[in-house]
Amino acid sequence: MHEDFDIGPKIRQDLSPEEMLKIIFDYTAKIANEKSLDKLLMLMADLGRELIVSDRCTLWLLDKNKGELWTKVAHGLDEIRIPAHSGIAGKSLQTGEPIIIDDAYLDERFNQEVDRRSGYRTKAILVTPIRNNDGEIVGVYQAINKMTSAEVFSQKDLEHLTLAASYSGKSIEAALLNQEIEETQKEIIFTMGEIGESRSKETGNHVKRVAEYSYLLARKYGMSHEEADLLKMASPMHDIGKVAIPDEILKKPGKLTEEEFTIMQSHTVIGYNLLKNSSRRILKTAAIVAYQHHEKWNGKGYPEGISGEDIHIFGRITAIADVFDALASDRVYKKAWELDRVINLFKEERGQHFDPELVDILLYNIGEFVKIKEAYRDEVLDR
Ligand code: C2E
Ligand code: SIN
Ligand code: SIN
Ligand code: SIN
Ligand code: FE
Ligand code: FE
Repeated sequence: MHEDFDIGPKIRQDLSPEEMLKIIFDYTAKIANEKSLDKLLMLMADLGRELIVSDRCTLWLLDKNKGELWTKVAHGLDEIRIPAHSGIAGKSLQTGEPIIIDDAYLDERFNQEVDRRSGYRTKAILVTPIRNNDGEIVGVYQAINKMTSAEVFSQKDLEHLTLAASYSGKSIEAALLNQEIEETQKEIIFTMGEIGESRSKETGNHVKRVAEYSYLLARKYGMSHEEADLLKMASPMHDIGKVAIPDEILKKPGKLTEEEFTIMQSHTVIGYNLLKNSSRRILKTAAIVAYQHHEKWNGKGYPEGISGEDIHIFGRITAIADVFDALASDRVYKKAWELDRVINLFKEERGQHFDPELVDILLYNIGEFVKIKEAYRDEVLDR
């Protein structure tokens, strides 16, 4: 049956050594600059596919915790996951040996169900494990259907894919580490924000809400997703300087004296000094926000008393997010306000305390802000 199978219209040639070198050079440059794991997976798959002139190539990564192999097939698509020991990829993973199959339909390890569902006809398969620097298997490379007239993969193809695999292993490990570092950074940053708030008995939900309000304001203001996301990660740290404010002041149930309030105001400068020396973009953004979130549009805020657009847009946005939350939720020193009263304050302070354009955005989209407030309610309030 498979004899008359036509793999495709264009029968191609194996690469000359020069072509192979060129492809390796091209991809090396791209891969070296790529920190995103998803994009890296796709680059590696493309590299493998071109090197050995296969129709398809997939780079599966092992998720040890879940016992699954996973991959991405296209930009924006969700990942695909399969049990780690299923199919031919799984076999190679288990044994640590490469597998070359000339005709999948004559091999009982191949699950024809995959083709039946996709309408694709798998014939030749080449699978080889990917190892990290320590020799541990971290995934497998899988190529399907050889596009030359030979229609089968050769020992040379295996060598080339194995070479690409050894290279992939290192880059992927670096990308995995990078991803882990970024996630760790985000966690630390968030925790730092919570420290600033928890000491003043405000729950962690305050920082979450401020993050969400800031993101929403930034997007409606016209910022890109990337910039808004940066602000979303940074704005929870606006009150980080409160870690240095004495408890008697921070947790005082009533109104602050003038002297106490002066001390309280120093949380902006303290936060700025904690964050300003970092070269990380998130922390730099957080430094601006910590410093400027109590500045006012009319110049009557602190610590600098700057006004209008001299206040960084990140500071103007966080100011609204912070006060909206301070008013709409309980504080140690006062109960939450009704929504109407909050709205009235923003109308009064439009062009005074706050950037008028941002106030308009808030009031026009007030329903979306209330939704965020409801989604991140303080648990204490529910009891
Ligand atoms: P916070 O509780 O996060 O409040 C942030 C900002 O929301 C305040 O900045 C203020 O602009 C606004 N805000 C909060 N409550 C009210 C209110 O009842 N009325 C009006 N009009 N605005 C309000 P601000 O005033 O610079 O205060 C900074 C921080 O100082 C506050 O952060 C809070 O931690 C502390 N604080 C301010 N006033 C008091 C107080 O009377 N007692 C205590 N214990 N802490 C206070
Ligand atoms: C496999 O069974 O490992 C390969 C099947 C496929 O993806 O076509
Ligand atoms: C970046 O801008 O994301 C990289 C540089 C940095 O994190 O400071
Ligand atoms: C991150 O995206 O979590 C780190 C990048 C940065 O600090 O700019
Ligand atoms: Fe503050
Ligand atoms: Fe705050």
